Amino acid sequence: MANDRNVLLTGAASGVGKAVAERLTAQGYAVVALDIEEPSGANAAYHRCDLGDKASIDDVLGKLDGTYVSLMNVAGVPGTRGAETTIRVNLLGLRHFTEGVWQRVTDGGTVVNVTSIAGNNWRKRREYLNDLLATPGFDEGLQWWRTHGESIDTDAYTFSKEAVVLYTMQLAGRGLARGNQVFDRRIEFSGPT
Ligand SMILES: NC(=O)c1ccc[n+]([C@@H]2O[C@H](COP(=O)([O-])OP(=O)(O)OC[C@H]3O[C@@H](n4cnc5c(N)ncnc54)[C@H](O)[C@@H]3O)[C@@H](O)[C@H]2O)c1
Repeated sequence: MANDRNVLLTGAASGVGKAVAERLTAQGYAVVALDIEEPSGANAAYHRCDLGDKASIDDVLGKLDGTYVSLMNVAGVPGTRGAETTIRVNLLGLRHFTEGVWQRVTDGGTVVNVTSIAGNNWRKRREYLNDLLATPGFDEGLQWWRTHGESIDTDAYTFSKEAVVLYTMQLAGRGLARGNQVFDRRIEFSGPT
């Protein structure tokens, strides 16, 4: 696939991601949906992907081809799913997938990472966050979390969203030379998750 209407979207089966998929499809975009659950919507393609599992992400990365005008990282889990799962899905999986498709996002294309107002206080923990984001990949990031997670003065969900806010800023810097727009969308709580 190679045209300027292809969009990669995680979390397309439910909630925000499902609504985004419906709107993009209605506007003529070809939505390539990734989710652990199969979406009910009429997407151009669906790949089952567990963002908490590096092997599952790598499997999907091996199946993707072509280029994409946008990458939209919407999938996420609440902290009630457990601290390690939350870090795996909301941060490490998002980062691993994004790094894997970064060169497939067209010059001038867009990357959107859905975070939360819970990430607003990232400055307070920026030393921890920089340390974690300096890890080269999923496994190293997970090892970092297992070593340092308990000493961090906030919950895993908040920390995961703070980390994505900072990661998004780093990506935005890398995207400048390619004319990419990279930003986070900090959603406010809108109901039970
Ligand atoms: N709903 C809110 O009030 C709220 C507030 C702040 C931030 N957010 C963020 O917005 C995003 C979307 O939230 P939502 O309310 O639409 O949630 P949702 O639960 O309705 O949808 C999340 C989607 O992510 C998918 N998902 C979950 N675990 C996955 C995994 N391991 N691998 C792949 N996909 C997985 C789910 O199957 C689902 O389709 C999330 O990142 C969430 O953290 C939501």
